[in-house]
Parts: sequence; C-alpha cells; structure tokens
Amino acid sequence: MQSTSYSNLFDEISRKDTIIKNREVLETTYLPDNFPHRDEEVKNLAEILQPSLDGSKPSNILIYGQTGTGKTAITKYVCRQLSEKSRECKKEVKMIYINCKQTNTAYGILSRIGEEVLGEKENEIPIAGWRTEQIYEIVRKRIDNEGSSIVIILDEVDALVQKSGSDILYHLTGMNVDLVNSKMSLIGISNNVGFTKNIDPRVKSRLGEESMTFSPYNASQLIDILEQRAKEAFNRGMVNDVVIRMCAGRAAQEHGDARQALDLLRIAVDIAERDGVKSVDINYVERAQNRMEEDQLKKVIITLPLQHKAILSSIVLNELYDKLKTQTTGDVQEIYSNVCERLEIDELSGRRVSQIISELEMHGLISGKVVSWGRHGRSRVIKLEIGSREIRKIMKKDSYMDDILKRAGEGLLRRRQLRIT
Ligand SMILES: Nc1ncnc2c1ncn2[C@@H]1O[C@H](COP(=O)(O)OP(=O)(O)OP(=O)(O)O)[C@@H](O)[C@H]1O
Ligand SMILES: [Mg+2]
Repeated sequence: MQSTSYSNLFDEISRKDTIIKNREVLETTYLPDNFPHRDEEVKNLAEILQPSLDGSKPSNILIYGQTGTGKTAITKYVCRQLSEKSRECKKEVKMIYINCKQTNTAYGILSRIGEEVLGEKENEIPIAGWRTEQIYEIVRKRIDNEGSSIVIILDEVDALVQKSGSDILYHLTGMNVDLVNSKMSLIGISNNVGFTKNIDPRVKSRLGEESMTFSPYNASQLIDILEQRAKEAFNRGMVNDVVIRMCAGRAAQEHGDARQALDLLRIAVDIAERDGVKSVDINYVERAQNRMEEDQLKKVIITLPLQHKAILSSIVLNELYDKLKTQTTGDVQEIYSNVCERLEIDELSGRRVSQIISELEMHGLISGKVVSWGRHGRSRVIKLEIGSREIRKIMKKDSYMDDILKRAGEGLLRRRQLRIT
C-alpha cells in the first residue's frame, strides 16, 4: 500500500490556489524594509541621527508631508535600524514613539516618556494629579540617570499643539540644557505644513533645526510601491498588473497617497477572495473604491452631532416622502419641527438651523445655493448631494437616525397619503 509522508498536514494543504500568500504585508501596521523612491529621505534621516551613535546630540528634526507619503513608516524604520546598530555598538540609543493624536496633553506626553524610560513596573507617575513642573523634573532626572541618547518621535505633533499649545515643546526642546549625562533629540512629524504658524517662534527654530519634506507620489512611483508589496503578499499570477496600475492611478489622481493605494488594493483583493474567484480584475478595484467612499461617508454621517443628524434626516425625509428634489430652508424647518416633536428633542431656532445647514454643506452632504426670486426676495435651495437611498442605508445603521426615519417617516407617509386621497 502506498503512503504519503507529510512534514505537516497543513503545509501540504497548500494555499497556492488562494490569492493571498501573506496578509500581514498589506496591513497598515506592516513595516517594509525597503522604501522605493525614498532612498534620499532614508539616507538624510539616518545621517541626521548618526551622531547619537557617538554619544553626541543629533539635531531636532521636523518632517512635513501630505498624508500617506511615508513619514511615519520611514521614521520608524530608520529609528529601528539605529536602535539595532546602537545595541551592536553597545551605545544604547533609546527610541520613544508617541502619537500625539492619542496623547495630546503635556502631562500625557511627559508621563509616556517617564514610563518608557523606567518601564511600566517602576513607573510611579500617577495618571493625573501632579503639577507639570513636578513631572517634568522627575522625567528629566530619569532621563539623565540613563546616561544614554534618547530620540523622541512626536508623530502628528500638530494635534498636540492644537490641543495643548506649544509650551510642552518649548520645555522638551530645552531639556538638553539641563541634562548632564544624557542627550535627547526630537523628531516632530506633521501633515499640516501650516501648523508652525501657531507655535512660538523659539519652539519653531529649536524643533526645526533640520527639516524634511516628503512629496506626494506620482502614479509610476505608486506602481513600484504596490508591486513590491504584491510580490510578498500574493501568490504568483493572482493579481494582474492592470489592477495594480489602476490602484496606483486612482491614488495618484487624488493626493499621491501610498496608504490609499494600498488600501484600495487590499480591499479589492478581500472582496475577490470573499467572492471565491481565482484572480482579481479591475472590476474589483471599482468595487473597492465604492466601498471606501461609502465607508468614508458613513464615518462623516455617524459622527455628526445629534441636532445635525436631526436636520440632515429632515432633508432626507423631505426627499423620500414628499419627493422634493430641491427644498427651501422653510421646507426643512417644517419637517425638522415635526421630528423634534416626535422624538421629544429641543427644537433649535431658525438661525441655528440655517447655520447647521451650512455646516452640512461644508461636509459635502448637501448643497445650498442662494436663489434670487426678484421681488419675492431670496431663498436658499437645498439639495442632497448623495442619493437618498444611499443615505438611508447608512441612517439605518445609526440607531438615532433610524429612529427618526421610522417615527417621523411614518407620520409623513400618512400625511402624504391623506393629501393624495
Ligand atoms: N516609499 C514607500 N515604500 C513602501 N511603502 C510605503 C512607502 N511610502 C509609504 N508607504 C506605505 O504607505 C502607508 C502610509 O505611509 P505612512 O503611514 O508612513 O504615511 P504618513 O506620511 O505618515 O501619513 P499620515 O500623514 O497620514 O500619517 C504605510 O503602509 C507605508 O508603509
Ligand atoms: Mg503618519
């Protein structure tokens, strides 16, 4: 009798016929070790940080660039390489990465640094309650006791300045003067070039001793980035070149954002896998793009404040039940009033409703053109910018808006039927 010997049963049930070979490569957290079209930036950053390996203080750096241009990934990659080298040379350089969107207060930043320097166990800084000067002093002492070089990466640093001002940056960039045994340098990363307008000029010059700008990618650069990932992520021949070119082209048309190109490719492949097809074609890129746009729209709508939701729902109800393709502020107000009554919520003044309508317009959900009626004055003509059925699908996923649809919608339907009969 013939028998087959298996090294491992699951190795044998090969995944050769699936599209994806290694999903991790497509995740946003994956850090590649090769960055096409960023050799210059990688080299520059490494050269600026190199002095830390000799125990000197590298310059502080400000890195700018639009979203998805590789700022975070490349900074993490270079710092990781530096950390590895420093261990080899027995001249430890400590890296502390802080995302300032998540940690956006002076207290939070200092306690994160304290925690990283001493480790979670020995960290006695309370979550809150100390004065900033007190925590600054403790952190400074700890850093100095380390007797090493420390590089602190403040990613999305504009969020910190926006929430808490630039005082903390002033203190951190000045800390070196108070350090005897250690050296500290900062890397600030931002996709908002204008943010330095809001900071103290002294902080701007201290933090921006060196500055780098990452430019957006063009379509052919994005193709190279995607091809490199595709080689690692997919089984051979499963994703054709046209798909990669299309993902790159779409992302290049918008902001030259590598994240968007990668997301598009990952979602297209995910949909194709779920469909059980054996290879991915351009129709899946179209579907992925629609999915991404829908997700974005959903996020905007679901995070609106409640009164905004009530007013947007009123506009949708007008279109769904009264079949109004365009409506005036008066039409919106009438339904909104009805919605407030049925849902027992406070009704805002006409002026505030008008303001909220303008805000919905800024989100791109509606358009509101002011039309002159000659002797009869002027009024705003409001129109939904997204199909009412599409919006309704999203509203059904939000319990508050779904409630409006059901309770106020039924009332309107009855009113309409009464009018017809
Ligand atoms: N040159 C490149 N080669 C390979 N992958 C890249 C390259 N540039 C960016 N990426 C990848 O694109 C994605 C987005 O990059 P990253 O997160 O670094 O953007 P960012 O500039 O920090 O954007 P944001 O301002 O939105 O934070 C990551 O998955 C990153 O690995
Ligand atoms: Mg980033």
